[in-house]
Amino acid sequence: MHVIRADKSGFCFGVKRAIEMARQQCETGKRVYSLGPLIHNPQVIERLREDGLTVIDSPDEAEGGTVVIRSHGAPTSLIAELRARGLEVVDATCPLVKRAQERAVALARDGYAVVIVGDPRHPEVRAMLADVGEATVVEEEPPATLASAKRVGVIAQTTQAPESFRHVVHRLLDFDFDELRVYNTICQATVDRQRAALDLAGSGDVDVMFVLGGRNSANTGRLAQLCLAAGVPTYHLETPDELTDDMTAGRRSAGVTAGASTPDWIINAFVAALESR
Ligand code: F3S
Repeated sequence: MHVIRADKSGFCFGVKRAIEMARQQCETGKRVYSLGPLIHNPQVIERLREDGLTVIDSPDEAEGGTVVIRSHGAPTSLIAELRARGLEVVDATCPLVKRAQERAVALARDGYAVVIVGDPRHPEVRAMLADVGEATVVEEEPPATLASAKRVGVIAQTTQAPESFRHVVHRLLDFDFDELRVYNTICQATVDRQRAALDLAGSGDVDVMFVLGGRNSANTGRLAQLCLAAGVPTYHLETPDELTDDMTAGRRSAGVTAGASTPDWIINAFVAALESR
C-alpha cells in the first residue's frame, strides 16, 4: 500500500513540554501525580505510568509529593488547593492554553460577557470556565440570551476548528452589542494539523484516511471529522492493532495524520503496518 503522511501531524510543542516536565519529576523518585490524564493519549499515559506517574481525579487521592498540572490546564482555585495541602505543583499547562485562560479572565474583569467557543466538557474549557466565573460556552450557535449583553468578549478553545470559530463570530455580528471583542486563541499547531489533514484528504491522492490518536482527544476527533467531510472514507484509530483488512480492501493509497497528542512511535508503527499490506 502506498502511504502518504500529512505534512504536519503528531506531537505539538505543548504536549512534548508536558511529557518532558512529568518525566523530569518522575526521575526525582518522589511520588508524582497528574490531575486527570496529562495528555489525551492512553498509550502515552501508560508509558508515563511505567515511569512512575499516577493519574488522580481529585486532590484527595494525592498522598504527598508532586502534582503535575496537565497540558489542558486546571482551575486556579484547584491549583491553590493543591498547594494549601502541602503538595508541590508543577504547572505543565501549555503556555497557549494559559494565555487563552488569562485573556478570558481579563475580559470578565473588564466587564465583558465572556463567550468561549469550544466544548463545555473539555478540561481546557472547564478550567477556563471555573476561572472566569460566568461565561457562555458556544459550540455552534450563540444562544438568544446573549442579546441582553452590551459588551461581549470572545475566546476560542485552543483546539477549536477555525471555521467553526469564524461561524460563531459571524453569528455574533447579527446581535446588537455595543462592543464585540474577539481573541482568536486557536493555536497554530491545531491550524497546521487541520490544514495538512484537509490538504491530504482532498488531494485526490488517497483512497482512505487514517487519523491516529486517543479517542478522548478533541483535536484528533476534529481531524477525523474534517477528513470525512472532505469525502474520503476515514478511520479514527488509536493503535496499529486496530487496523483490519476491510479498512484497506480494494484501496491502493492511504493518507495518515495524527492528533497533537499522538507520539511518533505510534505513527511510525502504523505506517509500517500499512506499508506491509
Ligand atoms: Fe498547546 Fe496547541 Fe498543543 S494549545 S498543547 S500547542 S495543540
